Amino acid sequence: SRSDVGPLFDLMDQVAGFYAEQLASEDGKKAIDYLKRRGVSGAIAKTYQLGYAPEGWNTLASRFNFVALTKAGLLVSKEGGGGYDRFRGRVMFPIRDKRGRVVGFGARVLDDSLPKYLNSPETPIFSKGNEVYGLYELLQSHSRPERILVVEGYMDVVALAQFGIGYAVATLGTSTSKAHMELLFRFSSELVFCFDGDKAGKEAAWRAMEATFPCLKDGRHVKIMLLPEGQDPDSLIRAEGVAAFERGIASAATLSEYFFGRVQDELSLESMEGRAQLINRSKKYLEQLPVGVFREMMYQRLQNLSGFNKLDVLENTATLSKVP
Ligand code: UTP
Ligand code: MN
Ligand code: MN
Ligand code: MN
Ligand code: MN
Repeated sequence: SRSDVGPLFDLMDQVAGFYAEQLASEDGKKAIDYLKRRGVSGAIAKTYQLGYAPEGWNTLASRFNFVALTKAGLLVSKEGGGGYDRFRGRVMFPIRDKRGRVVGFGARVLDDSLPKYLNSPETPIFSKGNEVYGLYELLQSHSRPERILVVEGYMDVVALAQFGIGYAVATLGTSTSKAHMELLFRFSSELVFCFDGDKAGKEAAWRAMEATFPCLKDGRHVKIMLLPEGQDPDSLIRAEGVAAFERGIASAATLSEYFFGRVQDELSLESMEGRAQLINRSKKYLEQLPVGVFREMMYQRLQNLSGFNKLDVLENTATLSKVP
């Protein structure tokens, strides 16, 4: 209940403050150097309350309540009791809920060691499938954003904001979920997926699009911005500048373009076999669309592409076959 988690929110807030102080300390110099090398300004580090977790194993436990730290996921428990700091020698990104309360952390190493990022585990106040990074900060500057960019990484959100694109959020090292999209659609009617131009990013874009179908009521739009091979939003905006990045957003593919492009991959619509396969691949997605004009138009597009005008019969069959 509320009263159980109140102290957890307080602790997270204090720990975020502590990590931010550490960044400004002698010990935090290497983290500042790292952020400078990556082009992160002091002002943007303040906006996102970036911090530094010192290298010791017992930094938090010697300062805060042990039971609360454990509950908050800030310690790793040791077998037979006790625990040690989960985050050590990392740049810290406080993750806030939409009301601004710190609910978790993302943490990056300062070098090439692995794992590159660590995240808070699931706790009574933190669930990765329900939170996005940067939403609170976005809402501080845009109460009704025209669109929200959904990116993969903490550094992508921070870099975009530094270049004036303050309407990006990141999923937290997990796939974009239906809950993420329902949350974001409360604040904007257009989401633009902007994932890395690598294999993982392409797969993430397809999966995010899959999850989005049930949310696509009329009036809600999803676009997909594909980045050049090897780039992510952070690297691209630094390399090409904000104007080029905004042109990329403006020319992002609509969901319908992207979907019908991808679903035809390696199919030849010259043959009946190819066209039948197109229908079979598409059906399971279109079925999930909420009733509305967009759904009807997606079916019509499938009908035009396949030349098959009995899609409604297929739907009835699918419904009938579910009857026991
Ligand atoms: P990327 O692998 O694209 O990060 O993961 P990156 O762009 O190379 O990172 P930088 O630019 O060197 O800092 C994107 C996101 O996936 C999650 C994190 O949320 C990260 O921001 N991730 C990545 C993890 O959770 N763990 C990892 O080990 C790697
Ligand atoms: Mn990477
Ligand atoms: Mn990547
Ligand atoms: Mn990156
Ligand atoms: Mn990346």
